[in-house]
Amino acid sequence: MDKIMIHGGSKLKGEVTISGSKNSALPILFATLLTDDPVVIKNVPSLDDVRTTLLFLNFMEKETVKRGNAIEVYSSDNRTYKHIAPYDLVKKMRASILVMGPLLARLKKADVSLPGGCAIGARPIDIHLEAFKKLGAEISVEGGYVKTFAKSGLRGTIINFRFPSVGATENVMLTAVLAEGETTIINAACEPEIEDLAVVLNKMGAKVTGAGTKNIVIEGVNKLHGFKHEIIPDRIEAATYIIAAAITKGEIILRKVIPQHLKSINDKLRKSGLYIKELDNTIYVKWVKNLYPQSIKTGVYPGFPTDVQAQWMALMCLVNGRSSIKENVFENRFLHVAELRRFGADISVGGRVVNIKGVKKFSGAPVMVSDIRAGAALVLAGLAACGTTTLSRIYHLDRGYEMFEKKLKELGADVRRFCD
Ligand code: UD1
Repeated sequence: MDKIMIHGGSKLKGEVTISGSKNSALPILFATLLTDDPVVIKNVPSLDDVRTTLLFLNFMEKETVKRGNAIEVYSSDNRTYKHIAPYDLVKKMRASILVMGPLLARLKKADVSLPGGCAIGARPIDIHLEAFKKLGAEISVEGGYVKTFAKSGLRGTIINFRFPSVGATENVMLTAVLAEGETTIINAACEPEIEDLAVVLNKMGAKVTGAGTKNIVIEGVNKLHGFKHEIIPDRIEAATYIIAAAITKGEIILRKVIPQHLKSINDKLRKSGLYIKELDNTIYVKWVKNLYPQSIKTGVYPGFPTDVQAQWMALMCLVNGRSSIKENVFENRFLHVAELRRFGADISVGGRVVNIKGVKKFSGAPVMVSDIRAGAALVLAGLAACGTTTLSRIYHLDRGYEMFEKKLKELGADVRRFCD
């Protein structure tokens, strides 16, 4: 099994180009199931979750061609339309549930194995299923599969989410674009990835308005066509590198970013004393003085992203003073706490709140990655630690960070992958 070894202590310095957003690429790749026309998607990150999604498309008899960072998707003339998403594919990532919307929209039925993915909470899919029901689908669970069937077709309606789930917002958009009449999502997720999906759906001929706000209106159309699109930059990857600069007292330039998508994080880092300058699609970060502790609460966009909570925790553990973190999105997203303690972190957990007392230094340790962002936090801790850190179960990192060691090495980190 591959592992990553880090000799900590180097200050990161230089430039890093941010990859396309994983969380944007996945729903957009699933959207290609809504058409038989050719599709070109640029700036797709080379990640295991993307490869899993391409396997889905191949299983659905789509041909996928990779040219650099672009993915072309084609349908064969004699394509048979499968409505089943098997366990072997779905178990690899939770986002597989996004196959359900396009299949239901086109075939009026979808049998999808219950999703797996990161171990960061219960992660039910009740909001998705409730919405499919309102659109006219019957739902049953049999043999580990969720079966949806819209016997009399799908009809637009008003759907009021109890929580602005990112995946459920995307799934409803992916379904309602081909439903009869108008669908309104109230309390929709506002993440930039939702807006990116709406841009794509509209390029395909859909009529989606309001994406990026709490109310999204989708007027159903009969048919969707091909599109060309470039995926937005990955704001979570960008935030990880900004925090990497902060934790190593470094100085880096991030290229190909949308600074506005990082506002909640950069605002907190500035309050903490980090120098950050934003220019069009570039961010310059420089550590100039010891940081002040800052407490955060995660929330839906534009709040502080839950996907940056673990990395933030690693940083605050090394900032003199006390801070706290409240995790409002997932109920069990503190698996990295036990591993950070192995570096010497002083953290206590009570329910959804973590209290941190900054320590002077971390010492390198063997640690285990439990999910994508927990893994990123452990890499950051390893970069700042004295001595050697070895990370195991790094396949989680390969799901979400493109060329992680290469990019870190180019910034001066002493990091390498090896096979145990
Ligand atoms: C997406 C992101 C993930 C990010 C998360 C929150 C992708 C591929 N993944 O995940 O990186 O951490 O948004 O920003 O885009 N919930 C329910 N019932 C549901 C759906 C969700 O109770 O039917 C709960 C979840 O258990 C969780 C919260 O809602 O506590 C947020 O989940 P959701 O926004 O759906 O996240 P994902 O789409 O899975």
